[in-house]
Amino acid sequence: MLDLKKFGVTMWEEEKIISFRHKLLTWYDENKRDLPWRRSQDPYYIWVSEIMLQQTRVDTVIPYYERFLDCFPTVEALATAPEERLLKAWEGLGYYSRVRNMQVAAQQIMTKFGGQFPTTYEGIASLKGIGPYTAGAIASIAFGLAEPAVDGNVMRVLARLFEVDHDIGIPSNRKIFQAMMEILIDPERPGDFNQALMDLGSDIESPVNPRPEDSPVKEFSAAFLHGTMDRYPIKAPKKKPVPIYLKALVVKNDKGEFLLEKNESEKLLAGFWHFPLIEVEEFSQEEEQLNLFAQVTEESAVLGPTPQESFEQDYDIEVNWLDQTFDQVKHVFSHRKWHIQILAGQVTETQQFPDREILWLAPEEFQDYPLAKPQQKIWQTYKKVSLESRWDK
Ligand code: ADE
Repeated sequence: MLDLKKFGVTMWEEEKIISFRHKLLTWYDENKRDLPWRRSQDPYYIWVSEIMLQQTRVDTVIPYYERFLDCFPTVEALATAPEERLLKAWEGLGYYSRVRNMQVAAQQIMTKFGGQFPTTYEGIASLKGIGPYTAGAIASIAFGLAEPAVDGNVMRVLARLFEVDHDIGIPSNRKIFQAMMEILIDPERPGDFNQALMDLGSDIESPVNPRPEDSPVKEFSAAFLHGTMDRYPIKAPKKKPVPIYLKALVVKNDKGEFLLEKNESEKLLAGFWHFPLIEVEEFSQEEEQLNLFAQVTEESAVLGPTPQESFEQDYDIEVNWLDQTFDQVKHVFSHRKWHIQILAGQVTETQQFPDREILWLAPEEFQDYPLAKPQQKIWQTYKKVSLESRWDK
């Protein structure tokens, strides 16, 4: 057991802990949000909800959750689903490794656990993509095991309750909060206890605009009582995402179909269909200000081929590039920020590409293929301009 005193944390006496649990759970019983996964004790359902809720807001998750369970109602259905259907069901949620890992875990359940969801913390935590938070959430909510589920929300609440002087953003500090929760958690209702802290952390104790005076446990909170709420939790500012500059080539044929390619790399957004992207060093000042794409100037000729030229060479295709400008498309991933400029062009001949995963797709067909968020933004931006102007006939 971790010695919390070494970390400057003094836990409460047993009596105070019991009174805290009672206060928190009474508040939860009266105020808990009615969420679809709270109507079930099925570990599969709880698991799906918990994975979706990592990095994604509750309101966004609800329709995805319902659709996902319609598509893949059982562990077995998930284990055997074709990748494209899986990505389609997750399209827009981002962090796609989450759903790929879920499929691997579903296959582990089929092969290693005889198709039955494991019922112990260790069994659950042995599954691919399930870390201590998710294992704790499933174990406590679905199986009533007294296991903490420590995420950012819970750490924030605890940091304020006990004035914890350790940065909640440093992974090795998680063990402090884990040890605190092992003492605090209600052994009778661990799932509700965990979820009560999640609800508290995502609303009354949210990172921005908290309402500490509305907290049901404010008289337990050292930071509230000492007027130090603005100091807790300790958290160093996040590093800025690295900017990446890309040209997106939206090329249409005379049937109104667009050239899309499957991303076959193992990198970001693997398996998704996309308008071809070409990375460039940086957009010029002029491009940044005017949102213009590079004209073929003498300078760029000296510097090498333009993205349009590289594209034509690489795909062995001749394109009539349109002199049309588009708003820059931006998309933030966890560590990168994509700045995308659209280059639109047309071809008269519908070329096929036998050795590449390339298709000419009509816009009505986009829904049948997984298109990640940045590609959807590219399409929306393109469509807006093409509807406003007359060139896109
Ligand atoms: N965030 C993560 N898990 C949650 C849950 N079970 N209920 C509400 N918010 C959550």
